[in-house]
Amino acid sequence: MSVTFVAAPKRLLTMTVDGQTIKVPEGTTLLQACQQRGIDTPTLCYLENLTPVNVCRVCVVEVEGSRTLVPACSRKAEDGMVVKSDSDRVRASRKGVLELLASSVDLSLASPEVHQWMERYGAEPDRFGPSSAPPPGNPRDRARPGEHVPADGLAAATVSQPAKLDNDTYIRDYSRCILCYKCVEACGVDAQNTFAIAVAGRGFEARISTEFDVPLPDSACVYCGNCIGVCPTGALMFKSEFDMRNAGTWDESKQTITTTICPYCGVGCNLELHVQDNSIVKVTSPLDHDITRGHLCVKGRFGYQFVQHRSDGSEAQQ
Ligand code: SF4
Ligand code: SF4
Ligand code: FES
Repeated sequence: MSVTFVAAPKRLLTMTVDGQTIKVPEGTTLLQACQQRGIDTPTLCYLENLTPVNVCRVCVVEVEGSRTLVPACSRKAEDGMVVKSDSDRVRASRKGVLELLASSVDLSLASPEVHQWMERYGAEPDRFGPSSAPPPGNPRDRARPGEHVPADGLAAATVSQPAKLDNDTYIRDYSRCILCYKCVEACGVDAQNTFAIAVAGRGFEARISTEFDVPLPDSACVYCGNCIGVCPTGALMFKSEFDMRNAGTWDESKQTITTTICPYCGVGCNLELHVQDNSIVKVTSPLDHDITRGHLCVKGRFGYQFVQHRSDGSEAQQ
C-alpha cells in the first residue's frame, strides 16, 4: 500500500502593501509579498538558493508600528501588517546604502539592476570625493580591529586592492566585494560545507578571507566554484573570464548559453555552458534546478577542457 503525503494548505494572511490589501500564504516574506504586487525591491545579499543573512539592508521597508525599517528579504508577513515599500524613509535608506557601497567598492561589473536602483534612488557616490589611492603593500588583508586610519575627508576611502591570482580556476578581486556574505554561505552550510572562506576583520576593514589569509591552494578550498556562482559583483570570477576581459576579448553579446547535463556522475546536475567563439568560457548552473539549486562540484564547474581538444591536436583558446 502506498501512502501519499499532501502538504497541509497554508493559512492565508491579509496585509496591506503600499495601500493595497493582499492575501499571502503564511510564511511569505515581505519581499515575496512585494513581488506579488509587482513591486521591484532592490536586494544585494539575498538569493533564493541561500539563507538570508540580512547584511546589506538595501531591501528595507517600513512596517507600521515598527521603530526601525525591516529587511524585506527575511521578515515574514503577519496578519494585519501594513507595509510601505516606497516611503521617504525607505528611499533615503536605500539611497544611503547604495551611495556608501558605490563610493567604496568598484561596482562596474554589478548587474544592470544595481545601476538602475542607484538611478532610481538618486544615489550620488561621488559626493564623498574621488576614490582614495590604495595604500602600498595592501595592508588591508592583515588589518586588525582598531587599525583603521580615518579618511582625510578629501577622498573617499575604498576597499581597493589588487586582484588575487593564485590558481588556474578563478580569481578573487576584493576591490569589487560588497561583503554580501553570499560566497561565505555557499562555501558553508548552504551548499558546500567546506568553510574555506569567512569574514575577517571588523568595521571598514572587514573582508572575505581564507584562514590566516593563506593563498587558495593552501586553504580548505575544493574549487567547487559555488562562491563564484553567487557573487553579485564580479569579485569572484572564472580565470578564463578575467583573462579575456584583460585581453579585451570578453564579449557577452557573442556568447550563447547551452543547458546540458554534467557528464561526470549520476547526480545529473544541469550545466549552462557559456560559449564564445566556439569555446566554453565559463560554466554556471540554474538556480531553480531541484537537485543542485545552482551549485556544482569542481568537475562540473571547471572540468570542461576535454571538450576543447580539437581533432588537429590543438586546444581551443581559454
Ligand atoms: S570554490 Fe568552493 S570550496 Fe573554494 S572557496 Fe569557493 S565555495 Fe569554498
Ligand atoms: S566576494 Fe562576492 S559573494 Fe563574496 S562577499 Fe564579496 S561580493 Fe559577496
Ligand atoms: S537583500 Fe535584504 S538585507 Fe540584503
